[in-house]
Amino acid sequence: MNVGSTKELSPEKRLSITPDTSKSFKNLGLKVYLEKGFGESLGFSDKDYTSNGVEILNNSSEVLSKSDLICKVNFPDAKELSQIKENSHLIVSNYNPEKEKQFLKNKLNIFALNLLPRITRAQSMDVLSSQANLAGYRAVIESIYEYQKAVPMMMTAAGTVPAAKVLVVGAGVAGLQAIATAKRLGAIVSATDVRLTAKEQVESLGGKFLTVEGSENLETKGGYAKEASEDFKKKQAEMLENAASKSDIIICTALIPGRPAPRIITEKMIDKMKPGSVIFDLAVSQGGNAAYSEVDKVVNKKGTKIIGISNVMNKLPLTASNLYAKNLFSFVRNLYSKEKKQFIINLEDEIIKNTLLKE
Ligand code: NAI
Repeated sequence: MNVGSTKELSPEKRLSITPDTSKSFKNLGLKVYLEKGFGESLGFSDKDYTSNGVEILNNSSEVLSKSDLICKVNFPDAKELSQIKENSHLIVSNYNPEKEKQFLKNKLNIFALNLLPRITRAQSMDVLSSQANLAGYRAVIESIYEYQKAVPMMMTAAGTVPAAKVLVVGAGVAGLQAIATAKRLGAIVSATDVRLTAKEQVESLGGKFLTVEGSENLETKGGYAKEASEDFKKKQAEMLENAASKSDIIICTALIPGRPAPRIITEKMIDKMKPGSVIFDLAVSQGGNAAYSEVDKVVNKKGTKIIGISNVMNKLPLTASNLYAKNLFSFVRNLYSKEKKQFIINLEDEIIKNTLLKE
């Protein structure tokens, strides 16, 4: 069976197959085809791939017509989709039904890794975790770059520089990594979440947990957040108005699966922040947790910068690709039967059933 991949559309820099994972595919008994210059966004040459058993073809249509399984980061465009062989398999990192449902009519088996169940067996394939973890880290680094003061406390002969105060809103995968990163850099960190189980995790990283007085635990059985009541939102806003006025940097990561991002940081809160403060809104593509945030812009409101980067992984594409490519390979290993030498769509397997897109 043949596995193939083509270049991603700009501005995406991440790749779905690295020289490292090409070797893993080969060891599994799969032949890999890539188009010429496939790895150039990350500085990998064709030779880096051919030395791991890959065959380089002249263009994307040759790859698509020869492959039984196509690996991508983003959903391919209509032109690429039309060139993929009927009844072959396609793996993407993310599926957006609003934009991509129309393409499910094609005779293809498409798997979206953002739909993986969060079970132990799927951990090595969990792209949401591997990428959000990096996003949380990089959100702090980008914020510090825009912040015009030093982060750690410094005692110098010219006076003491106070440590920056960082507030993290939403302590899931991205939020916990943001807390850890800000702590490592010497900031004083506090965080809030609607799931009370996050308290212990925040504290274990050295952060202070801010909780809404008398609130219930807004966690589903699956470990995700539930929509908060109006009363909760009011109390949370009062608590955060006070916390925001004291914060130098706010990292927003709040998410309720399948819903638009909850609006948490209001105009009023931003108004009370000190000039020179920074807000990073990781949820900007889902509508944003913060007022004023705009996709791929830095908005300046009375000296507070609000950053909205839609694809923050493009700021560390090498690490992001290494992890994504490994997640994807683990998924293929589960899909491929070495004995039967074919991809098996076993709908009794939760991993396959959940990720396979249906019309
Ligand atoms: P996650 O589901 O692990 O964490 C989200 C957290 O927000 C949960 O702990 C949840 O309980 C909490 N939350 C929900 N409503 C809240 C509220 N009203 N107040 C406080 N906390 C609340 O999600 P993950 O993977 O950490 O992703 C976080 C966000 O970052 C998502 O919006 C995701 O799409 C985005 N993201 C953006 C990237 C980018 O390049 N811009 C890259 C990766 C993730």
